[in-house]
Amino acid sequence: MLENDSDLKAIALITSGGDSPGMNAAVRAVVRASVQNGLKVYAAYRGYQGIIDDDFVDLGTHSVSNIIQRGGTILKSARSSEFRTPEGREKAAVNLKKRDIDALVVIGGDGSFTGANIISEEHGINVVGIPATIDNDIIGTDETIGYDTALNTAMDAIDKIRDTADAHERMFLVEVMGRDAGFIALETSIAGGAELALLPEELTNVNEVKALLKNMLQEQKRSSLVVVAEGDETGGALKLAERIKDDFTKYDVKVCILGHIQRGGAPTARDRVLASRLGAAAVKVLLEGHSRIMVGIVNNSLKITPMRVAVSKKKNLDYALVQLAKLLR
Ligand code: F6P
Repeated sequence: MLENDSDLKAIALITSGGDSPGMNAAVRAVVRASVQNGLKVYAAYRGYQGIIDDDFVDLGTHSVSNIIQRGGTILKSARSSEFRTPEGREKAAVNLKKRDIDALVVIGGDGSFTGANIISEEHGINVVGIPATIDNDIIGTDETIGYDTALNTAMDAIDKIRDTADAHERMFLVEVMGRDAGFIALETSIAGGAELALLPEELTNVNEVKALLKNMLQEQKRSSLVVVAEGDETGGALKLAERIKDDFTKYDVKVCILGHIQRGGAPTARDRVLASRLGAAAVKVLLEGHSRIMVGIVNNSLKITPMRVAVSKKKNLDYALVQLAKLLR
């Protein structure tokens, strides 16, 4: 074990918000990089709620063996309403300070980073964020941990649905996750060759959707597959099906909601490598004295973004991909 040159002696780690495949790989990287640099590592269970409840565990190199390949999070995750209150954050700060914890590493999405920024401002705790959400909607990183796995899970499901859609000459509306973000819907629609993708970022005109599908079905197509983001304007695949099924009786419109399947499973190699890089980077930037920042990878290089910037707006879809999906349908 090395001694480090910074004043940092102990850090705490949480996974927070919706889980995403690769969180465990990030936990492993943070723990191992910290231990290598002579830091003591605590983790709290269930995100911020565990800090408030004083539910901590010490982690060492061997506590994170055999987890890189596992989905979910060994630290559990939660969305804590108590942490949204000043009293909740006060309790959390007391529990961190009584252990002489110098910094908190938060693995999660933008809601979790907002909380980290506030506790840092209110109680002077150093914080670093590692972006992990299947939604991929965080600026300051090309991809978030878990997105690639969720995308591949959804694509695999779409491939399977296409087989049966084709066999029965049916129309399927496949709903994917993404309350506010259409990344999964857009990229799975391209990768799965869907006829249409309905995205929260775009207005959906149901009459136009019907006209487009009718046009396509008049051509050579005998089945069709529409990817609907759960946050699409129409209210999701079930509601859309109600509005279009009478126009497509011949195609026996079916709905398949992929749901939380997209959040689970073994992370892809790409997510494991991303999580490993970001976990080690989080420790590096803390040792360099940074705080209230998020680590990301942009164009294959480490990028740090102030947390207040990372939470200030959602990442935009790549409109070249939106156009590509339309060109190839
Ligand atoms: O933010 C990740 C996400 O999976 C979204 O895509 C989805 O809308 C939401 O979480 C679902 O959250 P919960 O598991 O709390 O229902």
